[in-house]
Amino acid sequence: MNTHHIIKLCDRCYWDSTTETVKLHNEIVSLTSNMTKVLKLLITNYNKPISSIDIFFHIWENFENEYKPRNVRNLISNLRKRLPCLSIINYYGGSYMLKKNRESHPLFTDHLIEILDQAKNGITISDPNQNDNPVIYINHAFADAFGYLPEEVIGRNCRFLQGDDRDQSALEEIRQAMNAQKDVTVTLRNYHKSGKLIYNEVTISPIFDKKTQKLKYYLGVQKDVTAIQQLIQQIKGMV
Ligand SMILES: Cc1cc2nc3c(=O)[nH]c(=O)nc-3n(C[C@H](O)[C@H](O)[C@H](O)COP(=O)(O)O)c2cc1C
Repeated sequence: MNTHHIIKLCDRCYWDSTTETVKLHNEIVSLTSNMTKVLKLLITNYNKPISSIDIFFHIWENFENEYKPRNVRNLISNLRKRLPCLSIINYYGGSYMLKKNRESHPLFTDHLIEILDQAKNGITISDPNQNDNPVIYINHAFADAFGYLPEEVIGRNCRFLQGDDRDQSALEEIRQAMNAQKDVTVTLRNYHKSGKLIYNEVTISPIFDKKTQKLKYYLGVQKDVTAIQQLIQQIKGMV
């Protein structure tokens, strides 16, 4: 049975239960054996307060040792210095608790880009704090749908997909929504690199910094609706 476990402690900080080591930004953090012991104890008791005396006897297993809360305090304080990202809570009365990170899956954030890359809809992210709101990320589905390589798109405003077909009422909807920093969903006439017309249903959403509430990014989700649009045009032509 594979018992190799990587536990996410905090952002970019992982505990390897096999080697009993902590990696921060991919570098092993050097800890004393007592620090490692106390950390392991805190991790196995995530979200549960452990009394200072229990920690003391866990670390200094020799029961002849006189219990000194100061030793535990110093040990925890040194661990905090080495791993400031950990949230070790100190309860009145001498208990310590490691608070669990809200992430539900250990390496989930590391996989986020892969998830976006493999999504079936086109995904674009732009940076409104740069001149002319250039694209800073596109996924594979977007690149495939329009026939461009990422390096041909990154750094440009998405309007290049409209070519010379700029007389579209939906563009005014986008401008108004973006001025008001609101979501918008419209269908645009866009053009594949080969020149082929694509009806693109795009949803553009402002993304705000949680702390400052300032506009940070725009997220665009693109869906090729050419087939349904052509059907609509055909039906319109029949009536
Ligand atoms: C994240 C994001 C994605 C966008 N995706 C598209 C797109 O796929 N196709 C398109 O024609 N315009 C897209 N736009 C809209 C254009 O970038 C631009 O905002 C629009 O053409 C209206 O502005 P303009 O009058 O300056 O051209 C997107 C905008 C943002 C912010």
